[in-house]
Amino acid sequence: MNTYPRRLAYGMIGGGIGAFIGDVHRRAIALDGLAEIVAGCFSRDAQKNATTGLAWRVPDDRVYPDFESMAAAEAQRDDGIDFAVVVTPNETHHRIVKTFLEHGIHVACDKPLATTVAQADELAFLAADRNLKMLVTYPNVGFPIVKHARQMIASGEIGAVRMVMAEYPQGWQAPTAVESNAVVTDRSHLRWRMNPESQGPSGSVGDIGTHAENLVSYVTGCRVESVSAVLRAFGPNALIDNNASVNAHLSGGAVCHFWTSQIAVGYRNALRIRVIGEKGSIEWFGETPDLLTFTPLGGATMTLSKGTPDLHPHAQAFGRIPPGHPEGTYEGFANIYHAFAADVENTVGASGIGGGDARPDADAVRDDYPHVEEAARSVRFIHACVESSKRDAAWVRLDEV
Ligand SMILES: NC(=O)c1ccc[n+]([C@@H]2O[C@H](COP(=O)([O-])OP(=O)(O)OC[C@H]3O[C@@H](n4cnc5c(N)ncnc54)[C@H](O)[C@@H]3O)[C@@H](O)[C@H]2O)c1
Repeated sequence: MNTYPRRLAYGMIGGGIGAFIGDVHRRAIALDGLAEIVAGCFSRDAQKNATTGLAWRVPDDRVYPDFESMAAAEAQRDDGIDFAVVVTPNETHHRIVKTFLEHGIHVACDKPLATTVAQADELAFLAADRNLKMLVTYPNVGFPIVKHARQMIASGEIGAVRMVMAEYPQGWQAPTAVESNAVVTDRSHLRWRMNPESQGPSGSVGDIGTHAENLVSYVTGCRVESVSAVLRAFGPNALIDNNASVNAHLSGGAVCHFWTSQIAVGYRNALRIRVIGEKGSIEWFGETPDLLTFTPLGGATMTLSKGTPDLHPHAQAFGRIPPGHPEGTYEGFANIYHAFAADVENTVGASGIGGGDARPDADAVRDDYPHVEEAARSVRFIHACVESSKRDAAWVRLDEV
């Protein structure tokens, strides 16, 4: 008789019915059947907590009233969770993640990792010190064509990187919406984002600029070293920036411009990156995540697509369905979770993923999920932008914040 590998078990903190991103995590993790939700503290509202547990078929005795009792109880069980998924507002990340790490449990946490640099560094230290795996969910690195872009740049297809433009405009906080509160009254996940106590020191850079920064680092292999930033809070009720214009120096000598906005009327979720090299350029737009534009010096512009045979084999392996069949946000999340789960499995000793499908092994995909060290650096990026803006766009080095 065959012995089948067990699925990993996980618990979620946050993600109660009506929340935004917790359910995306749950569906994405389920895509490959690689882990099963068995515990949670989904909301501080007891009724919502219970309703979510019921809806997601989590046993009553593993729906906890608070994350502290959840971490303690799960760490004691023989069949306790292998990893915790933290999908609560930013300000709570540090103490929740820290609690699970201190109980010896691997963690996936949504971005930004923490609201201060000291907290972020502490979590990175703790995870390394205890040999625990941490995923910080920047999902754009999960797209096959983004992986191909990274490979193209690493193998010199566009030559040395000279200039990067990265923009992430959204329009949900346009001044009229802020003034009337029309958008925010019935959507609590937007409300806490506009309050520095729960969001952290920056609105637009902390919420979405951090995605752009992570994407630039991943695709180009260059780190942001210093920034000169202008952050602005538009609208009479805005307590925190909702638009940022940031110049940056990257390692290796390239320059970069970031624009992030939550008041860009007409833009939904328009993450875009353009990388200009000495012998070619590429462009990727997050609302058409399967496609990549490539223009070699002196040549015609081409549109590359995920799933086509000319894709780098490593990137190819992350597609689930042939070209022309769109893959999007859920698959991006699923791919970073797949790489993370492979790493957790190696550590906890389970074997195979989801019944043994043919996904790349843990060593091959270790760089395919965002790790805690780079997420801690992203927190430095946010703080450097805030600091620079306070000092009239003075250049601020990330190592100095
Ligand atoms: N990676 C991405 O693309 C992405 C997208 C959206 C949000 N996010 C991040 O995910 C996190 C959550 O964002 P959201 O939009 O889902 O927020 P949300 O307000 O919709 O959901 C937060 C949930 O956490 C619960 N919660 C709050 N404090 C809690 C506690 N102490 N214990 C248990 N539950 C608690 C709330 O009741 C709610 O269910 C944020 O850090 C945000 O920046 C990331």
